[in-house]
Amino acid sequence: MTNNIEKLNTKWLGNTIKYYQVLDSTQTTAHALAKAGAEHGTIVIADTQTMGRGRLGRSWHSANDKGIWLSMIIRPTFTYTEASLITLYTSLAITKTLYKLFNIEAKVKWPNDVYINGKKCAGILTEVHGDRNKLDYLIIGIGINSDKTIYPEEIKDKAISLEQVIQYQPNKLEIIEELLIQFEEGYDSFISSGLASFYQEYNKLLLWKGEEIIVENINSSIKGTFLGIDSNGHLLIKDENEQINKIISGDISPLK
Ligand code: BTN
Repeated sequence: MTNNIEKLNTKWLGNTIKYYQVLDSTQTTAHALAKAGAEHGTIVIADTQTMGRGRLGRSWHSANDKGIWLSMIIRPTFTYTEASLITLYTSLAITKTLYKLFNIEAKVKWPNDVYINGKKCAGILTEVHGDRNKLDYLIIGIGINSDKTIYPEEIKDKAISLEQVIQYQPNKLEIIEELLIQFEEGYDSFISSGLASFYQEYNKLLLWKGEEIIVENINSSIKGTFLGIDSNGHLLIKDENEQINKIISGDISPLK
């Protein structure tokens, strides 16, 4: 289905596309290809994943051909710090794609989920490989729920597909191409100045901005008003003492 991508309207992203009907995870295959020397911008796509991976060791529901499951091999010229921000940048590329193709005003859930109508439509998993001093490559995995499907019990109230929103089956190839165009378009600017030219745009699309939220980490949690993110991608939370806290990582949810 996604195997008939021919020439994309991009300069470097997707010059090599590896297509598979079934993989355990496009991430795993992308790591193997990267280790074997695959070029910067190589894309790995599978129609179905038998062991799709999500963030924080979770699984990603993708054992069907109802979504876009792809991984990008990026050979960065930047450091680990920027690598953690590229996920936020990628979520913007997804929202732009959805707006351009379907007029959908999607939201970003910090750090890297894309939400429509309060439910998750897409997720990003960025994995890095390198030694202590030098980042060798990044694998950016993107999962987009495109077609209507029956979700498992545990995510059925939290997940949404594009088809449920637009009421027709979207063209996956068109989405992939636009996504790669959008990602490539701002990449140089991301390389030269990180999130500086993107964080305001990100803030405009931010889910639960201005609301009371809780940020949970393994050993701590903080409650307060969600002010947005700064140019380093950190969360800004105003607590009950009117102190502004900067948070680097965690899981956020609304306080209700
Ligand atoms: C998340 O929201 O937890 C991240 C989900 C990332 C899913 C994508 S699908 C393509 C790529 N291959 C995987 O196994 N995971 C990512």
